[in-house]
Amino acid sequence: MFSQLQQPPADPILGLSVKFKADSNPNKIDLGPGIYKDEVGHTPILSCVKAAENFRFENETTKVYLGSAGSALFNDKIATLILGDHKVINENRVRTISTPGGTGALRMAGEFINRCKPGATIWVSNPTWANHQGVFKAAGLTIKTYPYYDYENKCLDFDGMIEALKLVAKDDAVLLHACCHNPSGMDLNKEQWQEVAELANDIGFTPVVDIAYQGFGQGLDVDAFGLRLMANTVEEVIICSSCSKNFGLYRERIGACSVIGKSATSADIMHSVLLTVVRVNYSMPPAHGAAIVETILSSDELTAQWHEELKGMRDRISDMRQLLVNKLATNGVTRDFSFITTQNGMFSFLGIDKDQIQRLKDEFGIYVVGSSRINIAGVSPSNVDYLTQSIAKVL
Ligand code: LMR
Repeated sequence: MFSQLQQPPADPILGLSVKFKADSNPNKIDLGPGIYKDEVGHTPILSCVKAAENFRFENETTKVYLGSAGSALFNDKIATLILGDHKVINENRVRTISTPGGTGALRMAGEFINRCKPGATIWVSNPTWANHQGVFKAAGLTIKTYPYYDYENKCLDFDGMIEALKLVAKDDAVLLHACCHNPSGMDLNKEQWQEVAELANDIGFTPVVDIAYQGFGQGLDVDAFGLRLMANTVEEVIICSSCSKNFGLYRERIGACSVIGKSATSADIMHSVLLTVVRVNYSMPPAHGAAIVETILSSDELTAQWHEELKGMRDRISDMRQLLVNKLATNGVTRDFSFITTQNGMFSFLGIDKDQIQRLKDEFGIYVVGSSRINIAGVSPSNVDYLTQSIAKVL
């Protein structure tokens, strides 16, 4: 049965980690996967997470099944985290399920859409996270793209985006990044969100909002502005969220898929269908990550600690954006990289070509995703000179 199998290409993001680990260059720098790192390149467990885990260890009394939706407390806390004090919560129109990571949420959203309309089209930004297309294709959807990033001018191609979205059909879905666009770091401003939301409402397409980096842009509420606006303007919205980055829970695989219906009754039906999709996929989500998050968000003290730690990560990345731009200039790069300081979240495109990316890897042990996306969290005061001098050499 398996003799016909061909070796698939390495994953464009995760495949880099494998190569990075095997690299013996003592100066190597990992700017690949979107993982937060501190000044010494370590991805710490947040103190609030440790405290919550200790609490759970002492207080957990059963490992009995939770059901396909996962923990009800976690689901409520996440709905409030992403939507705030929103009318759709007060109108009882939101249903949330916990999922194995943000990817699990996207896959469940894709399969849910496919259940409602087999082979439906989902529009994704060009560029988008390298796994979006694969996840939605695997769920049975048809993929189309809309322009998003202007590679030449290093800014948003908002006119191109709007022109393309005008062609979206009523029964299509459109994937939007709530904040910290992966991979470009370019986000919509408030007026642009308003325009997209009005278009969605006029045409009637379904927005699917991916919020994987809440808190890494400008702050928890500002980063959710667009999706909250969308939920104000459009009656039916799907939101896929992740706790991998903002709670640092990567390997615990905890995220959520929230559906907003036109009414409480239709939200109940959407929820029931979503649960049948979960049941035939993985039956029920893992519990540990959700237990950590709900413990933190149920405690004022741990929530305050989490906000502080999240701010620390956000501020460090923002500082590294500025340091990187300064050091590129002082280490002999004449090209203008100031756009890096105007972007949000973990990522930026360097805008260098494939040969230069290859040279960075082969000659300097610097690992950048093939699109020239860099994870700014991989930059530190101790490696920034080597990094920028190497970039100067390949340019
Ligand atoms: C990334 O974009 O690097 C992260 O979301 C990690 C992943 O799963 O690709």
